[in-house]
Amino acid sequence: MEVVIVPDAAAGGELVATAMADLLGRKPDALLGVATGSTPLPVYRALAARVRAGEADVSRARICQLDEYVGLPAGHPESYRSVVLREVVEPLGLSPDSFMGPDGGAEDVPAACAAYDRALAEAGGVDLQLLGIGTDGHIGFNEPCSSLASRTRIKTLTEQTRQDNARFFDGIDDVPHHVITQGIGTILEARHLVLLATGEAKAEAVALAVEGPVAAVVPASALQLHPHATVVVDEAAASRLKLAGYFRATYAAKPSWQGL
Ligand code: GLP
Repeated sequence: MEVVIVPDAAAGGELVATAMADLLGRKPDALLGVATGSTPLPVYRALAARVRAGEADVSRARICQLDEYVGLPAGHPESYRSVVLREVVEPLGLSPDSFMGPDGGAEDVPAACAAYDRALAEAGGVDLQLLGIGTDGHIGFNEPCSSLASRTRIKTLTEQTRQDNARFFDGIDDVPHHVITQGIGTILEARHLVLLATGEAKAEAVALAVEGPVAAVVPASALQLHPHATVVVDEAAASRLKLAGYFRATYAAKPSWQGL
């Protein structure tokens, strides 16, 4: 696992946007897995700015969703489908046809989950999966004690996650209890995992995920099992890392041709 400590959220956004642009340079139709929440927004803005400046070509990129609320009405502005279309697909100038996600409105939720896992595999697998981290250590919506081998399935949100996400709704009562999320086993199949975390509120979860034991109680610790995992953190989110000095020195000495 590589840990990169950046000065702030904007620098994290630029770094991850560079990794995505470089990937699309090597593989123009790469499948990019995107995350929702506030943290990845600087990435999407930085990448869209490069497209507008003619510095990146994302025209053949494919985008896939990590997770989704169950039961929100179709077109609800806070469904993750709507969020990804609004924050990623449209600003990058892509068509909705380039985008795939699980069906949170399906009558048969288990069938929709299995169909999404199949669709990801049939699309050739995710090339780069961007992840955030919940304050309780979740990735996607894999809450603590999710199986490290889990596939895409329905999960129940913790009270803490519903409170964290209440800011996107009129209040906590409007936050769904149930979600569909790519499983941890599904996420681990992506070729490159990039977890981005910013702000002091994530410091404890980041330290447990990076320096603690691999444990289902900290779902993000599963990144330790992946052969190509990158954790990008700002100074505040890095503030509880015991090995911060080592991570800084390693990145400073990294050959520039290597990329993330
Ligand atoms: C939600 C999403 C996660 C995201 C997390 C953190 O729970 N399902 O994918 O990582 O929020 O969001 P934020 O970046 O806003 O802190």
